[in-house]
This record gives sequence, C-alpha cells and structure tokens, in this order.
Amino acid sequence: MSMADHMLQPLPGVIEPRWSLAKDVLPPDSYIVDGAEFAMDDSDLAPDSPLARRMNRTFDEVGLVWLRNTGLEDLREMRRFGKLVVEQEMRYQGGANPRDSLEANVYEVGAPLTAWLHYHHEMAYISHSTRLLAFLGHKALPGKGATYVSDNLQATDAILETEFGQKLKELGLCYHRNLTDREKFKDRPPIGVYNHWQKSMLTDDPDEAVRIAESRGLEVEWGADRLLKTRYYVSAFEYFPQLDRNVLYSSVADDAMWFDAWPNVMHLPYHERPLALTFGDGSEMTRDEKRLFVDIYDRYGIPVDWGVGDVLVICNYRFAHGRPGIHLAAGEQRELGVLIGDAFERIGDRSDKW
Ligand SMILES: [Fe+2]
Repeated sequence: MSMADHMLQPLPGVIEPRWSLAKDVLPPDSYIVDGAEFAMDDSDLAPDSPLARRMNRTFDEVGLVWLRNTGLEDLREMRRFGKLVVEQEMRYQGGANPRDSLEANVYEVGAPLTAWLHYHHEMAYISHSTRLLAFLGHKALPGKGATYVSDNLQATDAILETEFGQKLKELGLCYHRNLTDREKFKDRPPIGVYNHWQKSMLTDDPDEAVRIAESRGLEVEWGADRLLKTRYYVSAFEYFPQLDRNVLYSSVADDAMWFDAWPNVMHLPYHERPLALTFGDGSEMTRDEKRLFVDIYDRYGIPVDWGVGDVLVICNYRFAHGRPGIHLAAGEQRELGVLIGDAFERIGDRSDKW
C-alpha cells in the first residue's frame, strides 16, 4: 500500500455502504431496454417512436430506465436519447427546459472519484428539487465504477416498520450546511471546504447570497470568517403525486458522514465538517440510527454496471442513487454525463398519505 492509499483508508467506526444486499430486487427485464432491438439513429428520436414509447412506458411503470447496447460514443447523442424521457416528463408537468450542463449542486460534481457517494435523492436538501435525472455513460469500464440505484418504494415501507422510521416521520429533519467564504481561501489550501457560498449562491454580494438562500427556503446566519450557515427544516419524506403516497426522501448523504472518504475533509471531526443532518428538533441521530439509514437503502440496491453509451433515467422519488469509491489504474477513465430533469417545489409529506 502506498502512502497515498494509506491516507485514504477510512477511519475506524466509519459506516461504509454495502450497496446491494439481495439479488432480484426488481426483475431486470422491468427496467432494461436493449438498444440492439432498435436502429439507434434519428428515427428513434421522434417523441412517438417505438423506442421513445418503450422508454417512457418503462419510466412510468417502474421509475427506472437503463438503455444499454446503444453503440453510442458521443455524449451529445446520449443526451438526445436521455431527453426522450426527460422532455416527455416536462410536457406532462409543464416544466421548463432540461438543464443540460453540469450543475454545481448535483452531488457527483466536485466529489472525488475515490470517495463513495452514499445513496441519496438529488437535491433533497433544498426546497427546489428535481423529479428525475439521467446519467450518460461517456467513459466506462465494465466491471468497475458501477452506479447503484435503490428501490425507494421498498425502502420506504421497510423504514416505516422501524422505530427510527417512525421517529423520522414524527420529527422531520434539519439540514445544516456551512458554506465557506471564497475570499478566505484565496491563498489557502481548501481544507474542510465543501462549497463556497459565492459558488453555491452564484453571487459575490453577501446580502444577495442571503436573499437567494432565503428564497430557497433556508434559514441563514453568518458565522466567523463570513461562514454562511444555512438550515433547512423539512420532512424526511416527500409526497409523490403519481402514486398518491409519501416516499422516503432523505439519507445520510446530507450528514457529516458524506465526507468520510473525502481527502480534504475526512480528517476533521464530524462537528467541524460542512454538513450535518439532525432530526427536525435539532437532536442528533445515533450511530445505530445512521447505520440503519444506510442499511435500508443497501437492502434494495441494484448495480448498474456501465457500458459506454448507456443511458440511465432515474425517477428521483422512486429511486435513490449512489456509488462506491472508484480507484482508476493508469490510463483508465470513467466519466458520466448528467441531465437534470423537471424541477419541483418540495412540499414534504402529506399527513393523509402514509
Ligand atoms: Fe446524485
């Protein structure tokens, strides 16, 4: 083991996900679409093409579409196929155009490849969330660098059967985020930095940053060194209109645990890290509760072993996603494109929809 590898070993007591504890969480036929059955050219890109109908029916029924064997290598081409579902959803919902570029608040962006990314629902920590997202297999290494998705309907039922799930239901959550000041790190290494408020709020003006944060439903407070401390109180669940029921919509990805394998943050004690997740009354989760929170998703995890050209569309209500750390050998590349779908304002759970 080299010195660099040694420094990346998780500390004792760290909870690492196990990703997928059971086979046959869902029948693969229910969510895999084989591109080899289609021409995979412009004829498939009409909204009413057989491929578009097949992908949209799969998405409606299951909330997950894995289009494989596409023969595609160009990321822009993959985006067009991902949009067959993303844009159809927007037509249903009357939403805006999909956001094509990589967004600063998408979890994967800026996360070190070597760090595992706990299961999560995209943008659960702000009021402005997304209904769906798509990943595109730009550079892939079969057998290495898999994404995992977890069947959130099964996870929701399982967590509600536990004392912890009932506590989540009753108390809700508070997302604590500490955003650093970019000016303070001009000439300093980014130790303990997750995101600067200038980058998160897209402004250099502190008053404007506060206004933007508040418009996103956050409570804000300035700390020492112009640290912007935000708090967001919301249910651990979200009402999903299509199935007319509440689903789990939170995970330890928004806790200090998120950084357990991050080179510049993992050495810090939890209370000095930029994120924390507590119950809505401010009380801490125990280690056993966090272990259960991780296990619940692991129980219903499904591996998605990437091939170049694969397109994976994920309903953000019905599935959580995450991945183990990836350790590339010299010359290896693994890179996904991301497409963020239709935005929605979180309402939390509905008391009559459990
Ligand atoms: Fe993500």
